[in-house]
Amino acid sequence: MSRRSIVAGNWKMNGSPDSIKQLMDALLEHNLADLKCDIIVCPPALFVERVLGVAGNRVAVGAQNVNENDKGAFTGEISAQMLKSIGCKYAIVGHSERRQLFAETSEQVALKASALLELGLTPILCVGETLEQREGGETLSVVKSQIDAVVNQCGIKAFERIVIAYEPVWAIGTGKTASPQQAQEVHSAIRMDLAKQDKSIAEGVSILYGGSVKADNAAELFSEADIDGGLIGGASLIAEDFYQICRAAG
Ligand code: PGA
Repeated sequence: MSRRSIVAGNWKMNGSPDSIKQLMDALLEHNLADLKCDIIVCPPALFVERVLGVAGNRVAVGAQNVNENDKGAFTGEISAQMLKSIGCKYAIVGHSERRQLFAETSEQVALKASALLELGLTPILCVGETLEQREGGETLSVVKSQIDAVVNQCGIKAFERIVIAYEPVWAIGTGKTASPQQAQEVHSAIRMDLAKQDKSIAEGVSILYGGSVKADNAAELFSEADIDGGLIGGASLIAEDFYQICRAAG
């Protein structure tokens, strides 16, 4: 079964109206129609609508987070319905920066995924271990428990409409990429684990790798059997680099 290959840019808290225009103009100058991968960019929430206005058909737009509640007294938060109302199709949930800096739990991340799914948006579910957890031999159990929280909340069938991103915390923004073999080992474990519950869903789910993916290491990572693309931070802010990474994904 062929899986969708996807390259998603996580711009994090970067950019201004001018810099975003330049980035999108430069990206859209390329002939993206020839590429086979799905391309997604995730600007800061404030700029999602602006980017939607220029992105065209070939580049989808996602948010970096969503609140798990429908509406109400949640100052500073944004709901799935609000994202949907402006045409946003994706949202990252459970990024390690949200888990670590904003104390999001796996249960809360699962509720966020559920809120998106209910409205037909696609969650990009981030999972990954810290360096300490890797050194303690806990990588697979940590990742499994992060995914299990979503399975418990949303059911295994939901993974027909979820994109997973494996992002080892020690590789994010550090310039230390997981080796293709290290990443493949975790990707394949994730898939095998899902397969115990539903083989065809496990075969179909796209599992992206994230953590210091660059134009010069993307092809090697993406050549692994269970790596279906990437979630790109720093390099997604440079149009040429992001384009080269998209090309590496096919
Ligand atoms: P990075 O970030 O590519 O800058 O390491 C990846 C991410 O946080 O999604």
